[in-house]
Amino acid sequence: MSETKPADLAPLFRPFALKSLRMKNRIVMAPMTRSFSPGGVPGPDVAAYYRRRAENEVGLILSEGTVIDRPASSNDANIPHFYGEKALAGWKGVIDGVHAAGGAMGPQIWHMGIMKPHQSGWMPPAPFEGPSGRVAPGEAGGTTMSEKDIADTIAAYAKAAKAAKDLGFDTVELHGAHGYLIDQFFWAATNRREDQWGGPTIAERSRFAVEAIKAVRKAVGEEMAIIIRLSQWKQQDYAARLAETPAEMEAWLGPMADAGVDIFHCSQRRFWEPEFADSDLNFAGWAKKITGKATISVGSVGLSGEFIGSFRGEKSEPAPIDALLHRLERDEFDLVAVGRALLADPEWAVKLREGRAGEIGGFSREALGTLV
Ligand SMILES: Cc1cc2nc3c(=O)[nH]c(=O)nc-3n(C[C@H](O)[C@H](O)[C@H](O)COP(=O)(O)O)c2cc1C
Repeated sequence: MSETKPADLAPLFRPFALKSLRMKNRIVMAPMTRSFSPGGVPGPDVAAYYRRRAENEVGLILSEGTVIDRPASSNDANIPHFYGEKALAGWKGVIDGVHAAGGAMGPQIWHMGIMKPHQSGWMPPAPFEGPSGRVAPGEAGGTTMSEKDIADTIAAYAKAAKAAKDLGFDTVELHGAHGYLIDQFFWAATNRREDQWGGPTIAERSRFAVEAIKAVRKAVGEEMAIIIRLSQWKQQDYAARLAETPAEMEAWLGPMADAGVDIFHCSQRRFWEPEFADSDLNFAGWAKKITGKATISVGSVGLSGEFIGSFRGEKSEPAPIDALLHRLERDEFDLVAVGRALLADPEWAVKLREGRAGEIGGFSREALGTLV
């Protein structure tokens, strides 16, 4: 990696505190689906995987997406549930291990919405559900949610968040990004509704997220920090955008901030890409400027290539983080999430801090095969 001296890393190794959340530094482990939880239950191997990151100086761990209690919230039998006695007992093992190692953690609670069937052939016991029976622009799939489906789903987010609090997690993140359920409501291409859950403006299509956030806030109380992860891009269309201007971004994020979001987790594939013309601020930079809330940036930190390419088999080499440090130093955003670099090497943060960056390797998709 780079020649960055440990002393230059000060912006990254400053502590951070917000409500229930106490972090020793600004490093967040990005949520990464691993599919190592058979029957939806995270076992001791999953607990040990997260604990290793906590032991090695990761300030906050966000879990892989873990699904809420809806019959079709998942398309993969090996993705962890965040409901049911066995799965929650598994998560108790995870958070206790992370706390014993001095770390902080939040689950990323998730409903996938309308999906294509998983490559394993596994199917959930009910049809996939979403705002308008569309899996992608112009492509039918799944069912359109009724008022009752929507009310029950919002209640399921709240129940999962309450479970997170009761288990002792430090925060909770709603997955509102990447073209999954909440994002399917945001996106005009997948939300064609003409009732109170849809409409021509982003503010109207944000209503589902806003109601879910309000329900989560009610369930966890005022003191637990709530994060929502958002992205302009979708797995169905990497070029899609929900907000073309800062004013549209304000219409999108403002109501969520008012509803109770403490931290916006702004997902980009490359953190250095400017969000709008005439400014080099990235998505997390704009979200912080517009809402006044704390934000997390993410995307190719410490690596030469971005993550979708790496799924296709492109290898990413270690890359300098100086540009990231400059942005952190000027408080463009508060926290930085690291995905593949931390998936491949649990000691990434320690090696950086101790001036052993030369020992950090790159990322290749073979790393996905095991829980290191
Ligand atoms: C194996 C893998 C699984 C992922 N699963 C999730 C997920 O469950 N939820 C989510 O919001 N993002 C997920 N992501 C995206 C990451 O959180 C992150 O935004 C992305 O990898 C970019 O960060 P990086 O370049 O540091 O890897 C996943 C990424 C990878 C590599």
